[in-house]
Amino acid sequence: MPARSKIIILGARGRLGAALVRRWSADHEVIALGRADLDLLKAGEIESKLGAHAFDALVNAAGITSVDRCETHPEEARISNATAPEIIARVCHERGARFIHISTDYVFSGAGRTPQTEDSPAEPANIYGATKLEGERLVLAACPDALVARVSWLFGLDKDSFPDRIIKTALVSDHVDAVSDKWSSPTYAEDLADWLLHFIVDRRHSSGLLHLCNSGWTSWQDYGQCALDIAARLGLPLRTRTVAPISMHGFSEFIATRPPFTVLDTARFTRLTGITPRTWQDALAEYIAARYLRRPQ
Ligand SMILES: NC(=O)c1ccc[n+]([C@@H]2O[C@H](COP(=O)([O-])OP(=O)(O)OC[C@H]3O[C@@H](n4cnc5c(N)ncnc54)[C@H](OP(=O)(O)O)[C@@H]3O)[C@@H](O)[C@H]2O)c1
Repeated sequence: MPARSKIIILGARGRLGAALVRRWSADHEVIALGRADLDLLKAGEIESKLGAHAFDALVNAAGITSVDRCETHPEEARISNATAPEIIARVCHERGARFIHISTDYVFSGAGRTPQTEDSPAEPANIYGATKLEGERLVLAACPDALVARVSWLFGLDKDSFPDRIIKTALVSDHVDAVSDKWSSPTYAEDLADWLLHFIVDRRHSSGLLHLCNSGWTSWQDYGQCALDIAARLGLPLRTRTVAPISMHGFSEFIATRPPFTVLDTARFTRLTGITPRTWQDALAEYIAARYLRRPQ
């Protein structure tokens, strides 16, 4: 791999894709492709759209990430999350390009209470998870050298996510609540960008499934509470400092079933790189300071 690689990022306007583009552009030639440049649903165009570029590596951070939309649009979910990634994997394999595909903790049923390794059996509880799992399998069959990185509860500077919903609600309302009986590990997109780059630059030959998230795990309620504690310490004018618990089963807005416990075990990542991810609390504190203490230019 050349020191300065040509890297295509798909899903370049998404939460993760935008972070990869921003963090990697100084040292690499990044080709940022959004939906308007390459639409996963137009499967017949994928090969020629990618053929227009010379590249050493490709990261697929695109896909339908709304769990409930996948439930109501299963065919769209299957194309975006499974059959289109298979085509992309085949193109990368034929060109000898490094392929990193992003997957999810939602491939697990969530029934257990211990962190899931890459060898743990995957039994998705909904169509999002099922299509992502199918995508993993199709990608690795079409491109056995690919790396499939499962991540969980992404948050990042480029697009709002759960902690922003909690903080923004607490800035205008005296009531905030969040689900207390669902657990996973938050993942800071900035950290993930640094971890993934290892697998393009130094560890190009690592392949198969890999779990990536910040250390530790939490419920949505405790995650939100931690976000409010940090925001309060930073002096944000919150109207409440407490996140009240609600049960997942009483949450009528959900269409798809959510898996309760999908904590990822990152031991394989540490074995491969020597890196132990920092805790999600440390990452969250850095994020909230960076996002909410920004001064107007
Ligand atoms: N967010 C999480 O908490 C989470 C958790 C576990 C795993 N993941 C995985 O991490 C990856 C990145 O997630 P994210 O949070 O960055 O998601 P995101 O912000 O929703 O970004 C996904 C991107 O994919 C694009 N996209 C959707 N359908 C497309 C299509 N038909 N053709 C081309 N592009 C399309 C979207 O474009 P538009 O902006 O035009 O819609 C969006 O920019 C995904 O593989 C997701 O499954 C995310």
